[in-house]
Amino acid sequence: MTTLLAIESSCDDTSAAVLRDDHLLSNVIASQKVHEQYGGVVPELASRAHQQNIIPVVDAAIRQAGIGKDEIDAVGFTRGPGLLGSLLVGVSFAKSFATALDKPLIEVNHLQAHVLSHFIDRGEPKPQFPFICLLVSGGHTQILLLKDYFDIECLGTTIDDAAGEAIDKAAKIMDLGYPGGPIIDRLAKEGNPDAYTFATPNIAGYNYSFSGIKTSFLYFLRDRLKEDPDFIEKHKADLCASIQKTIVGFLLKKTERAALDNKIKQIAIAGGVSANSYLRSELQRICQKHHWQAFIPPFQFCTDNAAMVGIAAYFKYRKGDFADISLPPYTR
Ligand code: KG4
Ligand code: ZN
Repeated sequence: MTTLLAIESSCDDTSAAVLRDDHLLSNVIASQKVHEQYGGVVPELASRAHQQNIIPVVDAAIRQAGIGKDEIDAVGFTRGPGLLGSLLVGVSFAKSFATALDKPLIEVNHLQAHVLSHFIDRGEPKPQFPFICLLVSGGHTQILLLKDYFDIECLGTTIDDAAGEAIDKAAKIMDLGYPGGPIIDRLAKEGNPDAYTFATPNIAGYNYSFSGIKTSFLYFLRDRLKEDPDFIEKHKADLCASIQKTIVGFLLKKTERAALDNKIKQIAIAGGVSANSYLRSELQRICQKHHWQAFIPPFQFCTDNAAMVGIAAYFKYRKGDFADISLPPYTR
C-alpha cells in the first residue's frame, strides 16, 4: 500500500490531499476570496494567498486523513501549467517537504490530473481505455483521446479563449460577479435556453473558438441596451440560459463527432466547467441516445483540487516515475 501527499497550487485554490493507493483519505481546498472584487484572478495576490494557506492546508489534509507524516511514501505536486508565482509556492513546498521526509517527489501535469480524477476509487465503474475526455476549465478546452493513463492524444483544442473563460466573460459583461460559471449555471435554471440564439463559428476539425461568441454576445447586448437600459436586469435568466446552451451545445457537438469518428463509446468530462448542470445533463442525453457511457465527476473533483493530483501521482509512483529535486515549474 502506498500513501501519497499531493499538492495543487496552479491557480487560485490551495489544495492538499492524502491518498492510500487510489482511495482518497482527505482533500482540503482553500479557495481565495480576494479575487472576487477584481473580477478575475490577480496573480500577485494569488501567490501571496498560497503562501499563507499552504502550511495550514497540508496540515489539515494530514490530520483529516488520520495518518502520521512518517507514513507518507511520496509527495506529488502540480508542476504546471498555471501561474508561475502560484506554482512556485506549491513546488517549493513539495520539494522541501519531500526532502525533510527523505521521500521521492512526483511531478504532475495539471491537465492530466483533471482527466485522471475519474480513476479515484469511488466504488463505481471507471472508464476503460480508450475513451474520450472533454476537458473544460477556465484555462483549457480540449477533446482528449485517452489510450492509457499517460498516453493521451489531443484531438482538438481551442484556438483562442477557453470555455470557462468565455462563460466568465459573459457573466462579467452582464455584471453578475466572479467566477461567472456557477452564477450563470444557477440563473440559467430559471430561464428559457431558446430565448436568444448566438452563432457558433465554423472551425475545422475538433477545434474550438470562443472569442467570437463572446463578441457577438457583447454586441447583441449593446444594441438591446440602447433601446432598454434595464434589458439585462429584466432578461438575465433567459440570457444566461441561452449563452450557456450556445457554449455547451458547441462543446458537445464536436465531442460527439470525435467519438463517432473514432468509434469511442465512453465519454468523460473534466475540469471546472464540467460542474455545469446543463453540460452534465446534455452529456447524459447524448450518451443515452447512442447507448454510450457517460462519466461525470463528482463536484469536488471538477474544479481545482489536490485529489486529482494525488491519483495522477499514484499512477506515476507505480511506474517509478520520480522527479528531480531541481526541476522548475512550467507555465504552459
Ligand atoms: O478547473 P478550474 O477550477 O480552474 C482551471 O484550471 O481553470 O476551472 C475554473 C472554471 C471557471 O471558468 C469557472 O467559471 C468554471 O470553471 N465553472 C463553471 C461552473 N463551476 C465552475 N462553469 C460553468 N458552470 C459551473 N457550474
Ligand atoms: Zn484546473
